Amino acid sequence: MKGNVIVGQSGGPTAAINSSLAGVYRTAIDRGAPKVYGMLHGIEGLLNEQYIDLSEHIETDLDVELLKRTPAAYLGSCRYKLPEIHENIESYEKIFEILDKLNIECFIYIGGNDSMDTIKKLSDYAIIKGYPTKFVGVPKTIDNDLALTDHTPGYGSAAKYIGTSTKEIIQDSSALVYSKGLVTIVEIMGRNAGWLTGAAALSAGEDCEGPDLIYLPEVAFDIEDFLSRVKKLLEKKPFVIAAVSEGIRLEDGRYVCELTDGVDFVDAFGHKQLTGTANYLARRLSQEIGCKTRSIELSSLQRAASHLASRIDILEAFQVGGAAVKAADEGDTGEMVILKRISDDPYQCTTELRNVHKVSNVEKTVPREWINKNGTYVTEEFISYVRPLIQGDVSPVMVDGIPRYLYHKKK
Ligand code: F6P
Repeated sequence: MKGNVIVGQSGGPTAAINSSLAGVYRTAIDRGAPKVYGMLHGIEGLLNEQYIDLSEHIETDLDVELLKRTPAAYLGSCRYKLPEIHENIESYEKIFEILDKLNIECFIYIGGNDSMDTIKKLSDYAIIKGYPTKFVGVPKTIDNDLALTDHTPGYGSAAKYIGTSTKEIIQDSSALVYSKGLVTIVEIMGRNAGWLTGAAALSAGEDCEGPDLIYLPEVAFDIEDFLSRVKKLLEKKPFVIAAVSEGIRLEDGRYVCELTDGVDFVDAFGHKQLTGTANYLARRLSQEIGCKTRSIELSSLQRAASHLASRIDILEAFQVGGAAVKAADEGDTGEMVILKRISDDPYQCTTELRNVHKVSNVEKTVPREWINKNGTYVTEEFISYVRPLIQGDVSPVMVDGIPRYLYHKKK
């Protein structure tokens, strides 16, 4: 590799995104890249000429190991929608001027479906204008909603956290008995795809019954039916646990969280901020049944929990980062690396490439047949799909009893 590499992170953070960054960095160095730059806050930062030379920050093998264990986005992320080429050609001219100045041969972007839109537009522009830079996407999102890949790095670790936390919540709920019962509602991320919420079922085993109800956004949510199911369950048991997706919607398409006040925020991709579903349902339950309720929004905890990361996830995240650099170095452009499952037992995945035009802006949801008929739980097939992805642990590097992260030493 004669030219330099630049890498950016974009979209929602995960516990594994920095492992992909480590994979990009390590492979680029191993393939002889003179410099590996990191965009600060993705393409938005690059447009403002904000980048760092990663070798000034990742100095030792221990730094690489720390980076793999550091949650969120080491380089900073963004939710920035690159305009269409005809809408604002100046942005493209600016980006390519910067890439030219930095002698960039490979541009690697780690992100979800919105971020693949950026790779698509930049690679298209480079081809039209005859620029030699190669653009390759690295999949990432806890939501697991990217098309054409078996799963996305970041999902396995979040699923492991959700399964574990649900189990802890069930254990806690079983301790105290309230006269009219206790209902705990756990609100889980994932926007319009229920992959994460379904992972609450992983809590079930010999020592735990698992949640009573699981509601995914793939099936329209009926509030009255929910209230009546909970009522019936409380006649039989002292506590009820329901896992609900932040993105569950009513038959008419409105998000349940839109029935509450204060969810007006919309990001650059037109995504509404989804929050308050569990709280709304808990209030409805306490009004109608008079039972004790608890609403738990897992929020950013589920995507930042690197102390409970899945070893498989961290390894695969590293692997896809490396595969992207290899692909770009070998001349591929406008592609995203995918994970292809070869077998379940033993679990094995390999990497391949897919045209980014077929991935960007597409949401992969949970197949209807992986959700039970009533829309109140996931099937065994769903559980068999996700279980391999949460296997193994990554020990955090503990300092003074708290996990240590890689941080920017030179500002
Ligand atoms: O895109 C990943 C994700 O974590 C979604 O599950 C969630 O809806 C969204 O990001 C939250 O975005 P933000 O952190 O910008 O509020």
